[in-house]
Amino acid sequence: MRKNFTGRDGRVVCAVRTARTVQNLPRRATARDGKGADFTRKRRAPAPGQNPPPVERRLCVAPMMERTDRHFRRLLRFITGRALLYTEMVPAGAMLHGDRGRMLGFDPAEKPLALQVGGSDPEELRRCALLALEWNYDEINLNLGCPSARVRSGGFGACLMAEPARVADCVAAMAAGGLPVTVKIRTGIGGEGGEGEGARRHLDEFVAQVAAAGCRCFIVHARKAVLGGLSPRANRNVPPLEYARVYQLKCDFPRLQIIINGGIVDSAGAARHLGQVDGVMIGREACRRPLWLGQLQKEIFGEPPAITDVDTLLDCYAPYMEKKLREGARLRQFTRHLAALFHGRPGAAQWRRALGGAGEGGMETVRKARRAMALVEARRAA
Ligand SMILES: Cc1cc2nc3c(=O)[nH]c(=O)nc-3n(C[C@H](O)[C@H](O)[C@H](O)COP(=O)(O)O)c2cc1C
Repeated sequence: MRKNFTGRDGRVVCAVRTARTVQNLPRRATARDGKGADFTRKRRAPAPGQNPPPVERRLCVAPMMERTDRHFRRLLRFITGRALLYTEMVPAGAMLHGDRGRMLGFDPAEKPLALQVGGSDPEELRRCALLALEWNYDEINLNLGCPSARVRSGGFGACLMAEPARVADCVAAMAAGGLPVTVKIRTGIGGEGGEGEGARRHLDEFVAQVAAAGCRCFIVHARKAVLGGLSPRANRNVPPLEYARVYQLKCDFPRLQIIINGGIVDSAGAARHLGQVDGVMIGREACRRPLWLGQLQKEIFGEPPAITDVDTLLDCYAPYMEKKLREGARLRQFTRHLAALFHGRPGAAQWRRALGGAGEGGMETVRKARRAMALVEARRAA
C-alpha cells in the first residue's frame, strides 16, 4: 500500500510505501553490502567518440562542505527536480583510499548530481573520474576555488589557478573517464595578474588553456581568492564581487558554458545573471531558504515546484529520516538542515531551539518541534 502526499496544486509529490509493499520490492544494496549507502547502477565508460548526455546547468546548488551532504541533497530534491546538485568536495586521496561507500554513495533520487573533487595529481584525478562514472554521477568537477590553508598545503584548490598547465593536465586526465569535466574557479587569486586589463588577460589565458584540455563549462565564483591572511569564510565575503568580469568571460568565450556563483540571493539577481551567462549557482542562500529554490525553478524552467510549504516538505522527508535513523544516522545530521526551514517566520527561533536542544531524541524531537510550530501558528491565527 502507498500513502500519497500532494502539493498545493494536487500533484503527488511523494508516495510513502507501507511495510507490505516494501517486502515485495527487490532488495537494494545497503551499507552491509560494502557500499555504505544506497547506490545506483554501475556504469562503464562510454565507447570512444560517444558523448556523455548533456547536463542542464541553468540552476545549480553549490558544493558546500558540511552542508551539501546526501541528507541535504535528498531534502532539496523534494523542492526542485531541476537544479543540478553538487556534492561536498571530496579530496582525491580520500576518494581513492578511504571508505568509498560513505564518500560516494548517494540515493538515486538525488540525481542529477555532480561530484566535486579536490586534487592536483593527473593520475589520481583520472582514477577519481573513473570512480565518478562507476558510481553513476552526472559530472565531475574540480575545485579550483577553495582558499583554505589546509587545502593549499595539499597543493590544490584556488592555488592551482597559478598553474594553468597543471590544471590542463588534470582536466585532460579526468576527461578520459568519459563524464563531463567542469571546474569551479575564482576570478583570480590575490595579486595574480594585478587589476584591470592584466587580470582579465590572466583569467582569459587560464580559461583558454583549460578549455583546450577538454573543459567546456566553467563555474566562476565571482571573487578573487586571497591566499594567506583571509580565512575561507572571509574569502566568501571580503573580496568584492566581480560580476562584470564573469560576464566578460562569457563574451570572450561565447562557446563555453559559464555559470556564475557568489552572492545570489534573490530571483531578480538570478534573472539578471541569466541574461548574461548560462547558469546560476546558489550557495549559502540554498541553506538559508531552501524553498526559494522551488520558486527559482519555476522562474527559470517554467516548472512549478512540487512542494511550496514546510509542512508538506517535512511530511515527505520524514519517512526518509526515519529510515536513515533506523540505519544508524544521527539526528543531528538532519536537524542541521531542517533548522533553517522557518527562516524569517515567527517562531523560527523556537523551532531551532527545539531541534537543537533535544540531543538524540530521534524523530520524536522533530515531531515535538513541529507541534511547537503549529502552536505558534495557531496562536498567530487566533
Ligand atoms: C559552509 C561552506 C562550505 C563550502 N564548501 C565548498 C566546497 O566544498 N567546494 C567548493 O568549491 N566551494 C565551497 N564553498 C563555496 C561555495 O560553493 C560558494 O562558492 C560560495 O559560498 C559563494 O556562493 P554563495 O554566495 O551563493 O554562497 C563553501 C561555502 C560554504 C558557505
